[in-house]
Amino acid sequence: MDVTTHTHLYADRRARVAASLGPGGIAIVPTALERPRNRDTDFLYRHDSYFYYLTGFTEPNAWLVITAEGSTTVFCQPKDVEREIWDGIRLGPEAAPEHLGVSDAFSVAELDKRLPKLLENRHTVWYPFATHEGLESRVNGWLQPVRARVRFGALCPESQRDLCGVLDELRLVKDAFEQDTMRRAAQISAKAHIRAMQRSAAMLRAGQDVREYHLDAELLHTFREHGSQYPAYGSIVAAGANACVLHYRADAAPIRSGELVLIDAGCELDGYASDITRTFPANGTFTGPQRDLYDLVLASQIAAVKATRAGARFVDPHEATVAVLAQGLLDVGLLDKNKVGNAQDVIANRAYFQFYMHRTGHWLGMDVHDCGSYVEPSELGTAQERKDPLSGEIIKDRPSRILRPGMVLTIEPGLYVRPADGVPEKFWNIGIRIEDDAIVTETGCELISRGVPVEASEIEALMRG
Ligand code: GLY
Ligand code: MN
Ligand code: MN
Repeated sequence: MDVTTHTHLYADRRARVAASLGPGGIAIVPTALERPRNRDTDFLYRHDSYFYYLTGFTEPNAWLVITAEGSTTVFCQPKDVEREIWDGIRLGPEAAPEHLGVSDAFSVAELDKRLPKLLENRHTVWYPFATHEGLESRVNGWLQPVRARVRFGALCPESQRDLCGVLDELRLVKDAFEQDTMRRAAQISAKAHIRAMQRSAAMLRAGQDVREYHLDAELLHTFREHGSQYPAYGSIVAAGANACVLHYRADAAPIRSGELVLIDAGCELDGYASDITRTFPANGTFTGPQRDLYDLVLASQIAAVKATRAGARFVDPHEATVAVLAQGLLDVGLLDKNKVGNAQDVIANRAYFQFYMHRTGHWLGMDVHDCGSYVEPSELGTAQERKDPLSGEIIKDRPSRILRPGMVLTIEPGLYVRPADGVPEKFWNIGIRIEDDAIVTETGCELISRGVPVEASEIEALMRG
């Protein structure tokens, strides 16, 4: 993406940060470090999300400094013909002010020389705490020369504050440009899921040895084919019982006719993640017990979608999911009402937890598990204590976040049935999750990932094709 066409967006975000710093404030935001993978080869580089949010700039070795008065300085890699032959073209500090819309730019080699000057006579220095290894000592290192100049009349910042909260609140509500990018990311991921489903059925029909990596290959192909830079997280392609391992990765297990396949995969596009899960029959046709559980998970997702709208709380979709699952688990016989009571008891005692042990969603944005407080900031002071029925732990419940238009979250209920006493054998090793990405609107939510079908009969029709 060409950052220059959206310079105003980044300038606007920097101005909002500047306005949050208070008199005499200054903020420092580094991008991510390059990480060695082996010997002299690095992991594929991924910029820092905060830095990117404020600059749109994806080169490594870069820093942003913002003052409360709104001046902005970038430190970036200097032009260097020899390095550029090996590693690619650099923007360079000469072109950076115009390209990025910042007031000043210098070579990153000047960082240690210039930062003490920028910090001198400032009141508060802000930076993201506990996110960049060594940043705290870097900042202290820049403050030392400032302190040494106090006897010449210089003022040294008196406080250091965490910038994460300010940035997290800004990032939590996605603007129209971000929403558009996320829609496009979700559309690409939806195509990838369709392609993987169809490949599974086609290979089994042809009598081929299907492995999880075959379907992973389809995902990667589709992501790159449509311009995504990389997967937003390690893709899960889980055949049969592997679906009950929540953080399973695409590996080499065989995909067998009669089993379900769970794929949790989403691409990252221009810095924004998508996150979709579909569970489908490897050969294209659900068995009876698979279909019963699938329809139950889908019903719980539909309830969660209905509970997602501006003014509702983040926890509402989860509670709607749990209500449907609790009743459904009793109806299908996964839970025995003689042992666990009715649906209210199942909820109160968390008896569903044996089969549903994660939350129904999370914020989605630049990071797949995006930043943003799950507690309503206007009600921070009110907390209620309760005893967890399973662990006996005392838990402090703070009021869940009130949803606002432009927040983006996943809605991802599931059921995971491990073999156990009292669990009907026909359900053993079935793992199902259905995950979609939702933009909160005034009246409800927009599901941006439904380019891949979710109804069992639609999935079957698609896999016949
Ligand atoms: N793929 C990670 C998640 O669904 O949260
Ligand atoms: Mn996921
Ligand atoms: Mn997710």
